[in-house]
Amino acid sequence: MIDVAFTRATIAPARLAVVIDVLRASSSITQALAGGYRRVMCCRTLADAVALRAPGRVLAGERDCVPPAGFDLGNSPSGFRSPRGEEVVLTTTNGTPALLEAAASADEVLIGCLLNLRALLAHIDELAPGGDPDVILICAGTHGRPALEDVYLAGRIAGALGGARTDAARVAEAVAASYREPRAALAASADAAVLEEVGLGRDIDCCARESVLDVVPRTSALEQGVAIVEPAPTPGQPASAGSRSEERPLASARSEPGASRGT
Ligand code: MLT
Repeated sequence: MIDVAFTRATIAPARLAVVIDVLRASSSITQALAGGYRRVMCCRTLADAVALRAPGRVLAGERDCVPPAGFDLGNSPSGFRSPRGEEVVLTTTNGTPALLEAAASADEVLIGCLLNLRALLAHIDELAPGGDPDVILICAGTHGRPALEDVYLAGRIAGALGGARTDAARVAEAVAASYREPRAALAASADAAVLEEVGLGRDIDCCARESVLDVVPRTSALEQGVAIVEPAPTPGQPASAGSRSEERPLASARSEPGASRGT
């Protein structure tokens, strides 16, 4: 069954969940892993993020769309193209909380955005070769309300997948069908207006690019309120780096001095 949660409030237990925050957390996470960061550590609060500061880690995120004081990066996907360390610690207003809640309720959690749409669909197909996936598409939304850009992408994903679907999935598909191209859906959203207001309108164009990245981020562990996100293994390959049960230290990005790419 293909289902859609329009906000975090309707997250339901599932075998597979896809977390969507097109503007901009899921786009930034995908770009960070595609850009060469080994993993993204997603947390809820600014204090959680600061507590994870360590050599080789880059602190990133936003509040009201702008970088928190003292952080290394904001939440613009373009900021993650060239790694400034081994790992990213990310906290955002809606996206990282949605990911944490999804990770607590689903067996497998992927992260979707327009940037990785084709790769994401291929990955879901691989997980459900019969063509009838059991998946919930979780829209992060904005302050508890549905966000147009997230519902648009959920509709695009639902529309591309075969199999039974809920009415929520049908609603999302109808929204997606009402826009001729992604940029139009994103530009019509309230979140895009806020980005324009704070001078980050270029991020809308960046996040509207479709299927330009092959990485599919996947939550590999949920430890002490931190969701560890790494690239999902290429279909057909063993999940050696991404096993849910794998223990990974939260204390430091580096196992040896000098392992950082140089923050
Ligand atoms: C969020 O998590 O609320 C968003 O990603 C906000 C943003 O940075 O655009």
